[in-house]
Amino acid sequence: MEIKYLPIIVISSVFAIYWYFTRTFKYWKKRNVVGPEPVALFGNIKDSTLRRKCIGEVLKEIYDQFPDQKVVGVYRMTTPCLLIRDLDIIKHVMIKDFDVFCDRGIEFSKEGLGANLFHADANTWRVLRTQFTPIFTSMKLKNMFHLMNNLGDNFLKYVESLEEGEHEIYQLMKRFTMSSIASCVFGLDFEKMQDQLPTLKKVDELVLKQSLFVELDMMYPGVLRKLNSSLFPAFVTDFFGNLVKKVVAERNNMPSERKDFMDILLELRKKGEIQNMKKTGSEDIKSTTVEITDGIIAAQAFVFYMAGYETTATTMTFFLYSLALNSELQDKLLLEIDDVVSKNNGELTYDVINNMVYLEQLFKETLRMHTVLEPLQRNANCDYKVPGTDIVIKKGMTVLVLPMGIHYDEKYYPNPEIFDPERFSPENSADRHPCAHMPFGIGPRNCIGYRFAKLQFRVGIVKFLSKYRVVPSKNTPNIIKYDPMRPVMGPVGGIHLNVIRRS
Ligand code: HEM
Repeated sequence: MEIKYLPIIVISSVFAIYWYFTRTFKYWKKRNVVGPEPVALFGNIKDSTLRRKCIGEVLKEIYDQFPDQKVVGVYRMTTPCLLIRDLDIIKHVMIKDFDVFCDRGIEFSKEGLGANLFHADANTWRVLRTQFTPIFTSMKLKNMFHLMNNLGDNFLKYVESLEEGEHEIYQLMKRFTMSSIASCVFGLDFEKMQDQLPTLKKVDELVLKQSLFVELDMMYPGVLRKLNSSLFPAFVTDFFGNLVKKVVAERNNMPSERKDFMDILLELRKKGEIQNMKKTGSEDIKSTTVEITDGIIAAQAFVFYMAGYETTATTMTFFLYSLALNSELQDKLLLEIDDVVSKNNGELTYDVINNMVYLEQLFKETLRMHTVLEPLQRNANCDYKVPGTDIVIKKGMTVLVLPMGIHYDEKYYPNPEIFDPERFSPENSADRHPCAHMPFGIGPRNCIGYRFAKLQFRVGIVKFLSKYRVVPSKNTPNIIKYDPMRPVMGPVGGIHLNVIRRS
């Protein structure tokens, strides 16, 4: 090849690469849908792909940029997606027309830990969700309350063993939520698992760190499924597989008396195969069968563990942070806690803890200001005309919903930067749109563990605040900086507070 052609080849290659990574960027303009200007390769998510910001923060900037739009056209890498802002349209997509949007569009493998409820495709998900929903009923949680209550006491003993003064609150709360998940999911005694902590830390690092596979799947939707690729390294798969095998063997393949998740999963296992019938037309009945193997049990145990401890520990951290900054609200809560504890001779019961009205208001306000999973997403299984518009969401397209955008929208929450639990008093909540507060998602595919999360949150917080209060320390941040390296929206470096023993 002659050297004189080299510049032409280089220029053509650059042009071809540029064309390739921008080729889809007219998609929304052609359909008269407004949205931010995309940049080559990254689309509208450059800052989150480069791990400068969390994806939730990036999408919130876009949400705020278009206050008068019902929907906004965005590009995740080069793939067009629709961000829905309007609450009525959200209600259609997430609830009324859920049959079109039952997929999250992030399924990557039907094998190994990929067969879990969060990532499962629509057909597998229906079967699993129908079977697993009863695990989280109030009755089942009530049966588990004694486990959580004991763990709360152990947690308090641990805190008592620490010195008074400044502590990093996320690490402290994580100790409680990890022990509660380990016990309620696997029946394991966290105190006796201290030698396993390095392994759990490694699992945490491998799973709860942002992976570029996520962006690859945005760029080429479905690529991970086609490659049958698992996001989780063999180490993690083996860890959960072996853990489940061990617990199942200890229980002689039969449910025990503990009434924890593992017992409930073992009950299901006795059924062998589970089937789900779905009416798709007047006559048409489709069925999907899932065999409840040790692998399926491990996948669910994995997702309950991973989805369960970091989310709740992060929420507890933001909750205590908000109380430290608002001492009069903390005083009001302490009165409610003292009242409940003294009325019950120091004993907590499931019913008592569930009826703490002010605690609930504070919990909801914390989750309004600090959602932990962003964005919610659904994938269309057929073309869908967006109600009240001419826009068609094409089969296979992902729609995004941003609770964080809505929770900070002046239209729904005046002065959104102010922490005000009165927003959630019974009178003030009565007329609120059901989609205006969605920290646990919404619709049939919302968070299956939200009752469990609320219970472990309540037990941990009530035990802790019955003996301690929190105040800001010299290292308490004024502004929260979220960690872009993690999928759960937690504070970088945690939050330091002074923990003071109550008199
Ligand atoms: C404060 C704590 C928690 C928060 C804020 C939270 C939030 C969420 C959100 C936003 C979703 C997505 C919902 C949607 O797409 O509509 C979700 C899904 C899920 N969460 Fe949670 N979660 C929490 C605790 C838990 C716990 C304790 C468990 C299990 C023990 C759990 C298990 C799951 C599972 C399995 C899914 C997938 C559900 C499905 O696809 O059917 N979560 N969670």
